[in-house]
Amino acid sequence: MAQIINGKEVSASVRKAVAEETAQLRDSRGLKVGLAVVIVGNNPASRVYVNNKKKACEEVGFQSFEYALDENTTEEQLLDLVNVLNRDVRVNGILVQLPLPKHINETAIINAISPEKDVDAFHPVNVGKIMIGDYSFLPCTPAGVMELIASTGTEISGKTCVVIGRSNIVGKPMAMLLLHKSGTVTICHSKTQNLKEICQRADILVVAVGRANFVTGDMIKPGAVVIDVGMNRLENGKLCGDVEFESAEKVASYITPVPGGVGPMTISMLMRNTLTAAKQQAGI
Ligand code: GUN
Repeated sequence: MAQIINGKEVSASVRKAVAEETAQLRDSRGLKVGLAVVIVGNNPASRVYVNNKKKACEEVGFQSFEYALDENTTEEQLLDLVNVLNRDVRVNGILVQLPLPKHINETAIINAISPEKDVDAFHPVNVGKIMIGDYSFLPCTPAGVMELIASTGTEISGKTCVVIGRSNIVGKPMAMLLLHKSGTVTICHSKTQNLKEICQRADILVVAVGRANFVTGDMIKPGAVVIDVGMNRLENGKLCGDVEFESAEKVASYITPVPGGVGPMTISMLMRNTLTAAKQQAGI
């Protein structure tokens, strides 16, 4: 039976470290850390995420500035706000919650955020830096996954790593972080042939496809570390991952649960990025 990786515990220790450093920088240098969170419209899931981000800011001692804009906000109005936040010295990090309403071009908004304040690491400058391994900010979800793998004591170097999913937010940067740790990385996606055989070779399997119970125990190598990034809402209202937990836990050595695995990590990594941004902006 696999050991369960406790995302809540790992996340709490990241937050504790961020809170301690924030307090220390405030006391020794008078540095204040601020995060601006922008939400457009009434997407209920986005509302929950934004509230959680606000709570996390309070927990680690950051100022948070929330901008809740109407669904009918124009792209130009949102660009104006981003430009104001780019210049606001109280704001070290800017996060525009996605998805945005359809009439707003997400790429245009992401490109307008100053790369120094882009704590999501979505701006092309930061994406490029991740590619070459010279990163200011680690993309939050993949960085959280790396912390969870580290918490198991698993060495990545030389291991066969399989990432299922090729999104810009998770799959692609995830593969890069594993590669930078000298993993041998394969990225699988909806057109991949022989998915089962490829998965069966994985010492470290990261699943981010957004389909409930997509990976089953028979696809997993005995002793593999399995990280489930999925967060799917079933018809009965229950949350479930991309990995069929019951069959997978019989085969894996370590596995993340859903909820309580990757989910709690993402916001903690956002807090860490925001602290990094504040330090860089203060020349520390
Ligand atoms: N929507 C879902 N996940 C994310 C995220 O990590 N960052 C932003 N900005 N929006 C999201």
